[in-house]
Amino acid sequence: MKNTVTSLQKQKNEGDKITMLTCYDYSMAKLMDEAEINMLLIGDSLGQVILGYEDTLPVTMDDMIHHTKAVSRGASKAFVLADLPFMSYQTSIYDAVLNAGRLIKEGRANGVKLEGGAKVCPQIKAIVEASIPVCAHIGLTPQSVNAFGGFKVQGKTEEAARQLMVDAKAVEAAGAFIVVLEGVPAKLAELVSKEINIPTIGIGAGAGCDGQVLVYQDMLAIYSDFTPKFVKQFANVGDIMKQAFQDYITEVKEGSFPAKEHTYTISDDIIDKLY
Ligand code: KIV
Ligand code: NA
Repeated sequence: MKNTVTSLQKQKNEGDKITMLTCYDYSMAKLMDEAEINMLLIGDSLGQVILGYEDTLPVTMDDMIHHTKAVSRGASKAFVLADLPFMSYQTSIYDAVLNAGRLIKEGRANGVKLEGGAKVCPQIKAIVEASIPVCAHIGLTPQSVNAFGGFKVQGKTEEAARQLMVDAKAVEAAGAFIVVLEGVPAKLAELVSKEINIPTIGIGAGAGCDGQVLVYQDMLAIYSDFTPKFVKQFANVGDIMKQAFQDYITEVKEGSFPAKEHTYTISDDIIDKLY
């Protein structure tokens, strides 16, 4: 059964945790979809893990659409969620609706995600009015890295904790169907999850959220430039890949690959005639 805004809300209501992973291409989307993940996120984290930038700020709408198209083709049951990149929605409500629409029309996503709380509620409302499901993202919002002065846990002071609660309630009231809580203390995320009716998806926000998300390169140990405290490496696929690359290099050099079974044949008669 296809995951929808309705089925995801039902999961929260029934206490069934929602699972989300980032995804940026067709093959991985198929694997995750077959594993029965609820949601695939084409995160603007692709700026770092796919494109090698230091942060998400240089990511463009065209980058996002390119990867969203690929993931959508591989996802049959998972809800496909695509990030609105930096400066695609902050500039105006018009830009927000137009760019959200591109992720749906061209990328074939099922919904869009944008960063910010009360401040971006006019954008959330307008996108929702265009019949596009919106996921909000509050707490440590990486597009604000320069304003924060680095990637820092948010909501630790009383004032910041109150603001996070205000933001969560504001995005719910604006019509967001789900909200990502990133880099916030676990007890605060748990309280927010109880205080609002829409599902919360945590990353670095503890087990009290209604669901979890991780960047897949982090959970598979494929990306090693920076590994935050909240990452669990579920398998060391990075080491397995590196070993396979080394084995390939060795076998090519020593001539054991390609072997007979990897090779096409032709009758010796034809070869003889060529001499
Ligand atoms: O871009 C991303 O991968 C994200 C998740 C970490 C929530 O926004
Ligand atoms: Na993101």
